[in-house]
Amino acid sequence: MSNILSPTPHNIQLCANAIKNGEVVAFCTETVYGLGADAFSIDAVKKIFSLKGREEDNPLIVHISDISQVHELAREVPDRALKLMQKLMPGPISIVLKKSKKVPGIVTAGLDTVAIRMPRNASALELIKHSGIPIAAPSANISGTPSPTIAQHVENDFKNKLQFVLDGGQCEIGIESSVIDLSGSMPRILREGKVTKEEIEAVLGEKVEVLTNSNKPLSPGMKYKHYAPKAQVIFIEHGGYPILPVGLRGKKVKIISMKNCISTDEYAKNLFLNFRKADDEGYEVIVCELARDAGIGRAINNRIRKASSKM
Ligand code: TXA
Ligand code: MG
Repeated sequence: MSNILSPTPHNIQLCANAIKNGEVVAFCTETVYGLGADAFSIDAVKKIFSLKGREEDNPLIVHISDISQVHELAREVPDRALKLMQKLMPGPISIVLKKSKKVPGIVTAGLDTVAIRMPRNASALELIKHSGIPIAAPSANISGTPSPTIAQHVENDFKNKLQFVLDGGQCEIGIESSVIDLSGSMPRILREGKVTKEEIEAVLGEKVEVLTNSNKPLSPGMKYKHYAPKAQVIFIEHGGYPILPVGLRGKKVKIISMKNCISTDEYAKNLFLNFRKADDEGYEVIVCELARDAGIGRAINNRIRKASSKM
């Protein structure tokens, strides 16, 4: 029997009860599917790490349904954070702040900071609201594989290990939230996403640094292999012609290009879906075109480059 549930009020309540009981539930957000548990329960959060096979030095994002919950999670909420939250939450952005004592160390991997996000997907918001507690949730994939953007992809990774997958259809954005660190003296983007540096700068009225390609992984998760399908990913420049390295000739090759895409947003939405589809169809190599390096294109290119890296 499938454990994929449509997001009816009854099913959302069922999932919220499971969260309250310390269980793990997968749910849809506007970015990617999340694997959620009670952020205040050490035992519940441990289950997330063990299900995903995630390293314990990689912190989780805590999801809320109301901005006022930030004060329970963060011990300091600077003006910058208030500004960003008022303008961009709910939405595809996570804000890193100094953590409160209430947040268990396992959630933040021992860091003194916590990442907080309020998703805008209606079923995600309802789930968090009905749970009555903040929900710690990484992307709902086995560590290292592409993030899931449909319920079936969550099911494929975890088989029958999850009691419930709350099905919200295909994720609207398709790549993970922008992560911005506001815990220090200067705002810094740790992971690029749909919300761009320019948008954040416009709200804050100041310059923001992007650190995603820095050698020192400030967002601990960035150092691990990420987003990788089983097929080998090779990228080509935006508008470039797909040429296969000699060593790979004769392999079954899938080309993912922007040619048949109506927009860069559409390309982002289907990127991980296409990676997983290529695996399902037995392709050995994916030749993937980079997007134009602006707006959400920067986040797309970060994911493609990581998927292709051997790390
Ligand atoms: O869109 C998203 O953010 C999705 C959905 C489910 O909300 N979640 C997600 O979680 O992508 P995850 O665990 O796959 O990625 C979280 C990223 C990791 O790179 C992690 O290192 C970083 O956020 N992160 C979490 N807490 C942090 C902290 N306190 N300081 C710096 N980076 C942090
Ligand atoms: Mg992830």
